[in-house]
Amino acid sequence: MKFFIDGADPKEIRTCVEQGLIDGVTTNPTLISKVLGAGSTARDPQALLKEICEICKGPVSAEVVSEDKDGMMREAHEYVKIAPNIVVKLPLTTEGLKAVRACAEEKIKTNVTLCFSPVQAILAAKAGAGYISPFVGRLDDIASDGIDLVRKIVAIYKMYGFKTEVLVASVRGPNHIVEAALVGAQVATVPFAVLQTLVKHPLTDAGLGKFLADWKRIQK
Ligand code: E4P
Repeated sequence: MKFFIDGADPKEIRTCVEQGLIDGVTTNPTLISKVLGAGSTARDPQALLKEICEICKGPVSAEVVSEDKDGMMREAHEYVKIAPNIVVKLPLTTEGLKAVRACAEEKIKTNVTLCFSPVQAILAAKAGAGYISPFVGRLDDIASDGIDLVRKIVAIYKMYGFKTEVLVASVRGPNHIVEAALVGAQVATVPFAVLQTLVKHPLTDAGLGKFLADWKRIQK
């Protein structure tokens, strides 16, 4: 299973790359605006994305903000000039799916975002999406079942041999990752704070403390 970081902060991305934790990055307009609004050294979203693509060599999703296919394609063409590892992130709308098809024809890799139903995921795969992003946390927030959506998408894609990878998004904690892995999702995109908790277990710390203390006792 691959882990992406769901964030746009170059410092956090660099930390995760150095830890060997991540295989890629997903950004969105909210995450980019947080970093640029907090006084980043990057002047604009393009400069920030370039910096991110230099830090992480894996796929980096950059989201369009146009609402019509032509505008989305204009943005897609600008994004792919930034770096070869850019993936164009498109919304799960009628216009977004038209842009997914056009990108597929031009061999531009896409990530279809804001997926909340299995039938939306089928449409994205039929259009030629590289990744589909079901938002598990936002479904759980409204008392629905985010992981059940992932399970259904994985089963449908397998049944029909769709090549689209399932990229579990809106992850809130380690349990989402474990559940996503158990149902066979290929990728989870995870916020920095959650990524940093993954290695931790109180029994690991307690066990290591005891081993080191016992070792120290026999040192002359
Ligand atoms: C996906 O790529 C999105 O960036 C993301 O996971 C949004 O989730 P959230 O805003 O619900 O945390």
